[in-house]
Amino acid sequence: MKMLNNQKFKMPLNKKMIAPSLLSANFANLQSDIEDCIQGGADMLHLDIMDGHFVPNITFGPPIVEAIRKITRLPLSCHLMISNPDKFIESFVKAGADYISVHTEGAIHLHRTIQFIKDFDKKAGIVLNPATPLEFAYSAAEYVDFILLMSVNPGFGGQEFIKSTLKKIETLKIFLINNGLFNVLIEIDGGVKFDNAIQITNAGADILVCGTGIFNGNIKENIQKMRKLISS
Ligand code: DX5
Ligand code: ZN
Repeated sequence: MKMLNNQKFKMPLNKKMIAPSLLSANFANLQSDIEDCIQGGADMLHLDIMDGHFVPNITFGPPIVEAIRKITRLPLSCHLMISNPDKFIESFVKAGADYISVHTEGAIHLHRTIQFIKDFDKKAGIVLNPATPLEFAYSAAEYVDFILLMSVNPGFGGQEFIKSTLKKIETLKIFLINNGLFNVLIEIDGGVKFDNAIQITNAGADILVCGTGIFNGNIKENIQKMRKLISS
């Protein structure tokens, strides 16, 4: 299988990032959709891993991640919506994940799980469901590379953005600044669209996960449109 892009990825400083969520891609033609993501200028690919237990849906596991790894050098961010994530982290690392995030609600010994990811020299993130208070992130914030705030209840694409997330982003941003954690990125996932992207980045988000907002219609143009919006 051919590698779709030849540029080695470099993380740009202070740039707002766009992470297309492949959950809304055409699974029968993933390679073509990923090529469009690359051409549109996506910063990473967001891969939703669901086990039918932690969330009421099932998606895919390491073999698909491995197949995607073979065709792109874009960073792969695996959002693990699974119970007992410790058991599977190594498999996702071996499959080629660069970023791995685990839910605070699913990782019982959160610091140990984070350390487990860091031991593999991968970017570690923690995820909070919309109803989970920010306090769940505070004790682990200094050990992670990013904090993902869910702006929908996880499990499905195409849901509506929960507006109270905006306040949560602002509060988290202030916490990170007050604690000198300038390198910890804030990622937002769920219901991100053209009409709320600016509000979300203005509140302090660094990475926008976007599924239906990008894959419904022309993928390349949608990413470019999103880029223009959040850069203006
Ligand atoms: C939901 C997933 C999201 C989903 C977002 O559980 O974590 O990544 O793909 O899809 P949209 O952008 O359509 O809400
Ligand atoms: Zn996700």
